[in-house]
Amino acid sequence: GLKKRYVVRLLRTRLEQRIQDILDRLGQVAQDLGLDVFAVGGFVRDLLLNKQNLDVDIVVEGDGIAFAAEFARRFDCRIRTHRKFGTAVLIFPDQFKVDVASARTEYYLEPGALPTVEHAPIKLDLYRRDFTINTLAIALNGSHFGELYDFFGAQRDLQEKAIRVLHNLSFVEDPTRVFRAIRFEQRLGFRIGVHTEQLLRSAMRMGFLDKIGGHRVWNELVLIFKEANPLPAVLRMADLDLLEYLHPDLLLEKRAKKLFANARQAIDWYRLLFTGEPCRHWLVYFLCLLTDLDDQAVASLCQRLVVAPRLQQIFTVEREAAHRATNLIFWRRMHTAPPRPSEIYDWFQPLATEVLLYAMARSNNEQVQRCLSSYFTHLRSVQCELVGSDIKQLGIAPGPIYKEIFQRLLAARLDGELVTRQDELDFVSQHYLPNKHTNE
Ligand code: CTP
Repeated sequence: GLKKRYVVRLLRTRLEQRIQDILDRLGQVAQDLGLDVFAVGGFVRDLLLNKQNLDVDIVVEGDGIAFAAEFARRFDCRIRTHRKFGTAVLIFPDQFKVDVASARTEYYLEPGALPTVEHAPIKLDLYRRDFTINTLAIALNGSHFGELYDFFGAQRDLQEKAIRVLHNLSFVEDPTRVFRAIRFEQRLGFRIGVHTEQLLRSAMRMGFLDKIGGHRVWNELVLIFKEANPLPAVLRMADLDLLEYLHPDLLLEKRAKKLFANARQAIDWYRLLFTGEPCRHWLVYFLCLLTDLDDQAVASLCQRLVVAPRLQQIFTVEREAAHRATNLIFWRRMHTAPPRPSEIYDWFQPLATEVLLYAMARSNNEQVQRCLSSYFTHLRSVQCELVGSDIKQLGIAPGPIYKEIFQRLLAARLDGELVTRQDELDFVSQHYLPNKHTNE
């Protein structure tokens, strides 16, 4: 096992100072209340793997809520409690959060059945978890600060780079772990253990995923697609028949790899150019996954997974519109004149950024790509100079006609027909003032 001295050094050298301070204070309060308090789970896993993890999870052997309340009383932070679960969240002034849970002791605290094993509560709490690598705990209180508890072979599995469940019913108890196993495996570059993979496959075969709500499956999928590069996890899902489970037609062909790679390029391009503008990369990738499904299949998948209406709209209506627009650009280029900028604007403006990036990834036509990139870099930010009061001053009474005027002004500007403010004024006079028809 790891020497306490070594763990203390990790805590002292690899964590930001403010997190170190918080751990010290948690330990102080624990010591004063005579409670054993541990940092657990992903935080400890990532500490040993030397990966940054800002989700600090604390487990208290005893009343976690009382512990958190005392901490909040002493130090400058707010507390939010969930009595039903015996959990609390400490919220620091900079919005940094620490989750505090009570070690679940309900299993053995029957009258007369006092624990004989040392630290039975934390051990039982950790036993409920998904994979061995998530079962490490580090003691925080006083003289115990830095003691590492490894009840289930976590250090071995970290060394062997293995994702392993703690017991045979793990996937049956919580089928979302099927997705979590894949997510951790790909993120950490680990491998699901042989026995664990058998358990996973048999849980799949026996249909346990059907027992959890579609929205929970969806949440797990989103988490996978939110990883920096989801393609390996998607390929692994295919390998484990999870794509087929989602939809029978969702078979990844070879070109999926190419598509995901293109998507990544499009996303990187967008982020570099428009730093800070929102771009949900997971949506772009998800659209890539769906690329070979027809509209009806997508709609039924969305329904099964209880996807929010706005996203459903993106996956069906907006996706279709993007396909239509890019086909049109391609066709127009071949047979007639290329589309005018105002047309491109009209096609793309109603669509989510992510749908357009997906279209960019999907298209292998230079003209289509050029249209998309000119929309992003130029067209979408074009505005006309006149405002409502300018139109009013020209003597046009406010009404629905204004909307039409602004649309035409914008279109003419996009197409380069109007350049200055005076051009716009002339345009409006010419088309909307009956007494100035001289030029026509
Ligand atoms: N957990 C579990 N079963 C689940 C979800 C979570 O056993 N279905 C446990 C895991 O052991 C995990 C802990 O609850 O360590 C916290 O969950 P989460 O925050 O999702 O896990 P992290 O390991 O922190 O993962 P991430 O790095 O993605 O946040």
